[in-house]
Amino acid sequence: MTRREAAKLIGGTTAGLLLPIGARSAGESSTMLTRTIPSSGEKLSVIGLGTWRALDVHLSADIRRQLEAVLSLFLNLGGRVIDSSPMYGRAEEVIGDLTSALGIRDKLFLATKVWTQGKQSGIQSMERSMSLLRTRRIDLIQVHNLVDVHTQFATLQEWKKQGRIRYTGITHYESGALSEIEKLMRSQKFDFLQINYSLMEPEAQERVLPLAQERGVAVIANRPFGAGDLFDRVRSKPLPDWTAEFDCRSWAQFFLKWIIANPAITCAIPATDKPRHLEDNMQGGIGRLPDPKIRRRMVELLSF
Ligand SMILES: NC(=O)c1ccc[n+]([C@@H]2O[C@H](COP(=O)([O-])OP(=O)(O)OC[C@H]3O[C@@H](n4cnc5c(N)ncnc54)[C@H](OP(=O)(O)O)[C@@H]3O)[C@@H](O)[C@H]2O)c1
Repeated sequence: MTRREAAKLIGGTTAGLLLPIGARSAGESSTMLTRTIPSSGEKLSVIGLGTWRALDVHLSADIRRQLEAVLSLFLNLGGRVIDSSPMYGRAEEVIGDLTSALGIRDKLFLATKVWTQGKQSGIQSMERSMSLLRTRRIDLIQVHNLVDVHTQFATLQEWKKQGRIRYTGITHYESGALSEIEKLMRSQKFDFLQINYSLMEPEAQERVLPLAQERGVAVIANRPFGAGDLFDRVRSKPLPDWTAEFDCRSWAQFFLKWIIANPAITCAIPATDKPRHLEDNMQGGIGRLPDPKIRRRMVELLSF
């Protein structure tokens, strides 16, 4: 889809907003960066899409149009990973509906979760996710918040052998879970870890991210904007000029580039239901990344 087609899809008023954030100077790369999933060698783009709250909606005609624009832009700007959960209300159903209407399922990497106690209940939950997502194979299922993790993980391994899922994983969103995650990473072999990691919540980088690299586990960074709280910290602050050194044009790109500059991170999954924010976030996966010295400067800038 061209920028003009995207603008048409989104509608006159929002369309104009697409242009400034995405504008790149001549000679600058416009290709989304990718990282490799260690257990398979498959490549994923570094910016994905979270769906908590953003896609837990009733699809009125207006919202459908807006979210179709979000998903079309996501795909056309190089996105692949969409993360959901049975815990996110209508989100799985909305993804299934929109991706099948747009005919884009096969181009996406669909990740969801299992969040329940007991083997049978876990199986029922995953069958329901398949049906809501309107797919015969889910790319990744993760044990949500480590609930009944050993039982659910055993089923995930069986489903992977049967080809019903392609990858297994575990997820949490609180730094308090890091020591349990560390133990699990040492005792089990799973493909993905999803964890909170951002300028606001950097704790995973101490032990868990290096361990993930050592154990060959792909890492999805959730809550990349601290559920939006990071924007409050910079509300009246201008973006410093030196951020241009790593092709950064907005605070969203600043937050995302800091995350994906850590080589342990496979992909970050900011959530939005707005085409303009989606485009902004996707630009966070393009161009140069901050080196370790600049990353420290970025941390200092936010320590106020
Ligand atoms: N495994 C777990 O336990 C767990 C826990 C939490 C989250 N997650 C996953 O991680 C995803 C992301 O985390 P999150 O949803 O908590 O929050 P987040 O992505 O850190 O932040 C989302 C917030 O940032 C705003 N935003 C997004 N892009 C923006 C931009 N370019 N400029 C300004 N504001 C922007 C959004 O508002 P707008 O909608 O207005 O853009 C929303 O309020 C979730 O959706 C979910 O898929 C997993």
